[in-house]
Amino acid sequence: MKIAVVGTGYVGLVVGACLAENGNDVVCVDTDGPKIRALQRGRVPIYEPGLEELVRRNRNEKRLSFTTALPRAVRASDIIFIAVGTPADRDGSADLRFVLAVARDVARAMNGYRVIVDKSTVPVGTAARVREVVRRETAHPFSVVSNPEFLKQGAAIEDFMKPDRVVIGVEDPRAEEIMLELYAPFIRTGAPTMVMDCASAELTKYAANAMLATRISFMNEIANVSELVGADVDQVRRAIGADKRIGPSFLFPGIGYGGSCFPKDVQALVRFSADKDYDFRILRAVEAVNAAQKTILVAKMRAHFGSLKGKRVAVWGLSFKPKTDDMREAPSVPLIEALVSAGAVVHAYDPEAGRVAKGIFGSRVTLASGNYDALKGADCLVIVTEWNEFRRPDFARMRALMRAPVVFDGRNLFTPAQMQQHGFTYYSIGRR
Ligand SMILES: NC(=O)c1ccc[n+]([C@@H]2O[C@H](COP(=O)([O-])OP(=O)(O)OC[C@H]3O[C@@H](n4cnc5c(N)ncnc54)[C@H](O)[C@@H]3O)[C@@H](O)[C@H]2O)c1
Repeated sequence: MKIAVVGTGYVGLVVGACLAENGNDVVCVDTDGPKIRALQRGRVPIYEPGLEELVRRNRNEKRLSFTTALPRAVRASDIIFIAVGTPADRDGSADLRFVLAVARDVARAMNGYRVIVDKSTVPVGTAARVREVVRRETAHPFSVVSNPEFLKQGAAIEDFMKPDRVVIGVEDPRAEEIMLELYAPFIRTGAPTMVMDCASAELTKYAANAMLATRISFMNEIANVSELVGADVDQVRRAIGADKRIGPSFLFPGIGYGGSCFPKDVQALVRFSADKDYDFRILRAVEAVNAAQKTILVAKMRAHFGSLKGKRVAVWGLSFKPKTDDMREAPSVPLIEALVSAGAVVHAYDPEAGRVAKGIFGSRVTLASGNYDALKGADCLVIVTEWNEFRRPDFARMRALMRAPVVFDGRNLFTPAQMQQHGFTYYSIGRR
């Protein structure tokens, strides 16, 4: 099939590359000229495992191309995916400016029937608004489909290639048939395709992210109570995760969720519920718990050191989660801002997010060349992101490099007993 994907970010680029890998002709469109030029030269501007190779292969085989020229891409395609950002507006609602602008531009370029697919995460009613915008601009026939994306950054290709399920919100049989044909190669392993109305598809995406964010905030509260009552949250987590009704995923306590999705999607769901005079109380609490959890390590550091002024702090991990360079809403940002404004000197290391971090912190933070490099002369180490390479460090080497053997672990990578054995003062989440 001939496909255009508009918006070449963490989602659009993965979707485009994976659709090309299955034999479709895909053109990826973006307004960001430097990004498109880099991609045309074979350079992938973001870090996502396996993506560079996939892009290179499909580009070489001429199934995947990149352009800033939307009209030409629309005329060459049967299906147009909208995968642009939907950031939080000032009042927390999803900002649909980019989605609606693309819908208008697509409509103006159409020269026959097109399927226009909302891949961006958008509030209920957006498919109807897109339909309205397109109808105003063109007399050509078209269908609007809501096809939310559930991929996880860090495992995006695997998730898109072998999805748990495919959700297709569609309101006419012609578009339904095309979408089922498009997704057929991705669901051979038996994953269900769920065809529904557009409103239900749109709400499904928010419900999924809100549920996951709720689990995280719930476990963070269990962790905080564990500390107060002398329980070990890891034991509690394993025991409740064994219950089939609960399951083991997404029960790890930490220093709050971040990223480009959970914070803005939770906010948007609260907001569009409020627009219908519904107060989504659970999610307001989920947000408040998350905001508080992001401050928890600094509080532990203040309790240990008193003043943080002049303390040299090593930070391991900056991205909002492992295997991505994305730092949008990353807990590392408010943490480091708090440390710097308290007068601490921060030496940070991240395997992939260094370049992004440089853009955020400039010269206020020193970026180390490796995780041990960050530890030289440090008064403590703070672990912020659970990259695999941090899980089995050489503890003797760490102690030799640090001025004081103190670790604040925001991801519970180690056990208190193990750290005591290695001679560290160790603070973690939900354990004594
Ligand atoms: N990142 C994720 O893990 C994830 C997962 C599922 C769904 N989503 C949703 O997918 C959407 C995209 O997310 P993302 O993380 O890929 O965003 P992103 O910011 O990485 O990428 C968005 C891209 O759209 C481009 N763009 C903006 N306006 C444009 C226009 N008018 N024409 C062409 N391109 C334009 C931007 O230049 C940018 O490259 C969001 O709605 C998000 O909520 C994201």
